[in-house]
Amino acid sequence: MIEKILYPTDFSPHAEKCVEYILQMKECGVKEVVLLHVIDEHIIKFTEEITEEAVTEEQVIAECHRTGKQKLKALAETFHAAGITTKLLLEEGIPFSKILEVADREVVSLIVLGHRGHNLAEELLLGSVAEKVARKSQRPVLLIR
Ligand SMILES: Nc1ncnc2c1ncn2[C@@H]1O[C@H](COP(=O)(O)OP(=O)(O)O)[C@@H](O)[C@H]1O
Ligand SMILES: [Mg+2]
Repeated sequence: MIEKILYPTDFSPHAEKCVEYILQMKECGVKEVVLLHVIDEHIIKFTEEITEEAVTEEQVIAECHRTGKQKLKALAETFHAAGITTKLLLEEGIPFSKILEVADREVVSLIVLGHRGHNLAEELLLGSVAEKVARKSQRPVLLIR
């Protein structure tokens, strides 16, 4: 029985498409969704390098936490309205490895994620996070197109 789903999101339109599918899975016994956003440690370093103003790493991280928390809360309401409970996780690290780590830690029955994300490298069939999670996960993975 699929009871607990891990839904990692970068808040892109591709990731948002997963929501309608997860909601439909309530019929199959889904009771809880773990919503995970990973603050990419590479982005934090990159933002520091390209920003003219003196922003510290702490400020970049704090802003990512603030907006991430807001967006996760808004997403959670959609699931609550459908009678599905949520757990919100905001973590820093490398997205694909955090996703795999959380899937094991939370003992989820399925990982649902978008086949693409924010990156616009159209020539690629799959995004790099989607590809790595699908290839390395010990648990079932559903990629949404
Ligand atoms: N930082 C992240 N935190 C949580 N989930 C993510 C993150 N980045 C990507 N994902 C998930 O992986 C899916 C595929 O994204 P990705 O492989 O990064 O594609 P792209 O290369 O087009 O950005 C997204 O739709 C989302 O579900
Ligand atoms: Mg991406």
